[in-house]
Amino acid sequence: MIVVTGASGHLGRLVLEGLLDAVPAGEIVAATRRPDSLADVASRGVQVRHADFAEPDTLAAAFTGADKLLLISADTPGVRAGQHKAAVEAAASAGVGFIAYTSVLHANVSPLIVAPDHTATEEVIVASGLPYAFLRNGWYLENYEQTVRSALDSGVIVGSAGDGRVATATRADYAAGAVAVLTGDGQENTVHELAGDTSWSFPEFAAELSAVAGREISYRNVTRDEHRARLIEAGLPEQTADVVLSFDRDIAAGALGDTNGQLGRLIGRPTTPLNEWLRTQLP
Ligand SMILES: NC(=O)c1ccc[n+]([C@@H]2O[C@H](COP(=O)([O-])OP(=O)(O)OC[C@H]3O[C@@H](n4cnc5c(N)ncnc54)[C@H](OP(=O)(O)O)[C@@H]3O)[C@@H](O)[C@H]2O)c1
Repeated sequence: MIVVTGASGHLGRLVLEGLLDAVPAGEIVAATRRPDSLADVASRGVQVRHADFAEPDTLAAAFTGADKLLLISADTPGVRAGQHKAAVEAAASAGVGFIAYTSVLHANVSPLIVAPDHTATEEVIVASGLPYAFLRNGWYLENYEQTVRSALDSGVIVGSAGDGRVATATRADYAAGAVAVLTGDGQENTVHELAGDTSWSFPEFAAELSAVAGREISYRNVTRDEHRARLIEAGLPEQTADVVLSFDRDIAAGALGDTNGQLGRLIGRPTTPLNEWLRTQLP
């Protein structure tokens, strides 16, 4: 039995689809805060169970019988480390045989503002004694959906990442990686540094988007102060603007540029290239 938490999220749904192609539906449990939203999956023979990391009492029943558990990281920075700890403790109590966790690329040395929640969770998992796999996912291409939309409107991408490179893959690529780990052998106590096979810089992103859209879109690198002012002017709350700024700073420093090829090898095909994804984003 494979239990997937966060099953109604974007990544969770893609993992369920991949598992449905790989194992009988009766061996899959979709655990979510919103069971009603997975009625379509239930109708295909997947057990849907209620699980909310913020309500630890829900977790024992949700994890019962799990040979393997995919713990998809929650989405509230700061709060989620405690939620994940509750989930790991429940998994250990329920006798789960293996836990895979969606972490972040090079979590243990990453300067990313999101990394501490992931390292804290990895430490809790190791301390639990459960066999584990860390799926240290790099950036999703989908993180740039809004960038594409506004670039198509304005003809320009403004940022402060300089020539820093990002090795993106699609959520579907990372989901396939999770499925490979959940259905493969020899995954106990492994760490996977997962990212796109190739990387791009923002000037290259603008050039690729220009080629795909058939019109000129440029990248304008600005100072951090100007970038922050523009983000706030565009309507972002100050705190969110600071997070975006920190990502550009860390991209400039190389935190997301690793093209080690592990994800492509794990899923047995190349990861989705930037230009292919950009073509799916045109109106
Ligand atoms: N690598 C990247 O570029 C990147 C980008 C964004 C996010 N992430 C991380 O990857 C995760 C999955 O990405 P996504 O695109 O699928 O995110 P998403 O669609 O926004 O989904 C949020 C996820 O968080 C889960 N969640 C939130 N609160 C929870 C709680 N209290 N208990 C249990 N689950 C909870 C949701 O599960 P249910 O609603 O089904 O309960 C859902 O799976 C995110 O949550 C975040 O940690 C990575």
